[in-house]
Amino acid sequence: MKRDTFYISTPIYYPSSNLHIGHTYCTVMADAMARFKRLTGYDVMFLTGTDEHGQKIQKIAKENNNTPQEYVDRVVEGIKDLWNTMEISYDDFIRTTEDRHVRRVQAMFQKMYEKGDIYKGEYEGWYCTPCEAFWTDTQATEQTCPDCGRPVERAKEEAYFFRLSNYQARLIDLFENDPEFLQPESRRNEMLNFAKQGLEDLCVSRSSFDWGIPVPIDEKHVIYVWLDALSNYVTALGYPDEPEQYDKYWPADVHLVGKEIVRFHSIIWPAMLMSLDQPLPKKVLGHGWILLEGGKMSKSRGNIVDPVKLIERYGVDALKYFLLREYTFGQDGLYTNEVMLNRMNSDLANDLGNLVSRTASMIEKYNNSIVPPAGPLEGTDSELKDLALSTAAKVEEHMNRFSFSQALEEIWTLIRRTNKYIDETTPWILARNEADKPRLETVLHNLAESLRIVSVLIYPFMHTTSSKIRKQMGLWFAEPVWEDTQVFDTMDGEVVKKGDGIFPRLDIEKELEELEKLSETKEDEKEYPPIKDLIQYEDFAKLDFRVGKVVSCEKHPKADKLLVFQIKMGSETRQVISGVAECHKPEDTIGQTVIVVANLAPRMLRGMESKGMLLFADNGERFEFVTTIAPDGEIVS
Ligand code: MSP
Repeated sequence: MKRDTFYISTPIYYPSSNLHIGHTYCTVMADAMARFKRLTGYDVMFLTGTDEHGQKIQKIAKENNNTPQEYVDRVVEGIKDLWNTMEISYDDFIRTTEDRHVRRVQAMFQKMYEKGDIYKGEYEGWYCTPCEAFWTDTQATEQTCPDCGRPVERAKEEAYFFRLSNYQARLIDLFENDPEFLQPESRRNEMLNFAKQGLEDLCVSRSSFDWGIPVPIDEKHVIYVWLDALSNYVTALGYPDEPEQYDKYWPADVHLVGKEIVRFHSIIWPAMLMSLDQPLPKKVLGHGWILLEGGKMSKSRGNIVDPVKLIERYGVDALKYFLLREYTFGQDGLYTNEVMLNRMNSDLANDLGNLVSRTASMIEKYNNSIVPPAGPLEGTDSELKDLALSTAAKVEEHMNRFSFSQALEEIWTLIRRTNKYIDETTPWILARNEADKPRLETVLHNLAESLRIVSVLIYPFMHTTSSKIRKQMGLWFAEPVWEDTQVFDTMDGEVVKKGDGIFPRLDIEKELEELEKLSETKEDEKEYPPIKDLIQYEDFAKLDFRVGKVVSCEKHPKADKLLVFQIKMGSETRQVISGVAECHKPEDTIGQTVIVVANLAPRMLRGMESKGMLLFADNGERFEFVTTIAPDGEIVS
């Protein structure tokens, strides 16, 4: 019988450094969904991969004294190792440097060109190198990247353009009339407004670096990295030259992506497919970010949470469970060690771990390890049985809405109810009296059946734990089958064998200390940008640094990130504007001694003049004033 297909993808990750727990979040969700769909009868294609081209990768490779290819080969190996460690069940892993991808992207570019959707022109805009993104004046306000907040550069070059403007009306129609296409709702409204403001044609080639896929009609250019990257979802399937897999799995059921790349997936990608006359993915789902108390995780801040360290300590399943249960799809969530440890202790050690060990040991002790048949059911038995038999449908409903957390909550409702059933029925008291044996047998039977159903339900989320439970319950020879969640009498006569505890109870205080030690990033492990190219002394000598003192400071009326300082330098007081409002309260800066670049040409910043610049030390997280004990007005040389 031909099964329905289900095609799910993660973003393809930049191999610019090792992946942190935030990156694993999306892949863990995709893995759970892929396993769930396989278990419920679908023919699944689960795709992940790496996005290996672009200026940023070229630059990092150079800093590491590698060719870009050598560099990406090494990092990609690490990424694949991580997915192996995390037991990610992807069906295909696409690298954008693979020949199958390169030639198919070229074919797609050619097709769009032949259709008249790609033309040659000149690009001028604000370019953010770390994000590989061009921004317009209205987007790059304050000359910083709207995504990452770093400074953007003015860039101008001959380039190829994609007629995104041609697809504006169809995209608006898509957002307005297909509510399923982009979720959550808030993102859909955001993209609808974005499209309504007018879509400018998109620059789709670069000629200032060469680590990319050559434009087929003009080898001086390489294809803009997002065009290259987005195509992975179809090149991996063989589009356009080997249509067999493509015809089978396309359109994708869902592209899972982080919120900051929704724009690329819901505007550029559909427009490319429209240009190619291909069907659109059925759904783009934007998930939130996992944040730390101080904000974003990043290598330069030295605050990344390493999934491998957590797995080594707590196991793959505990980490996966935590990620899927703790965070609500579509929303940002806070990561702290404490939240994670509490979740592991309460749900895994207490609820599930206890249920398994109590059930297995009672069947061993009170019935010679054999699962007994059930006698007549009492009220509490039927309540448990009904809940056990109705949980799968609820899980399925939540999973179809990508509500991983709620799906798990349903399963845990059953787990907790089963634990409560033990407390209510008190098998240890029933065991004291021969006359209660039939009742004891019914209770043990119901416990075994409920736990068996739990073992099937948790399989997509934690398959190793599922196997461990099934082994203890004598079911180790049979693969979990979803339909078995609909029956409550399959275990009579099975031989139970209690094993080690599946989740040990954690000493939270001790673990917090251990994790603190593990996460301390040594200063020399932090990654700062490399030293810029050498300059000559004459260039340096042109700069005039002076000591200044802040006499007043207020927020810029038109820009949240800017502070407007009045700086006294000897007899002169002048206005200098700096983008440090996120780190300093204006009133706290008064009296601060600062170093001023005094001969920098004045600039207008959002309507106010800035004469010169202040020096700050930037650790990627905070801007600290560079200061001195010398009096204001003095020369710094
Ligand atoms: N290469 C592009 C994607 C191209 S897809 C055609 C890219 N790569 S990335 O490595 O920077 O990010 C990959 C994914 O990781 C993004 O979806 C991003 O949202 C996600 N995350 C990175 N940090 C994250 C958190 N802290 N939390 C959750 N997801 C985060 O973008």
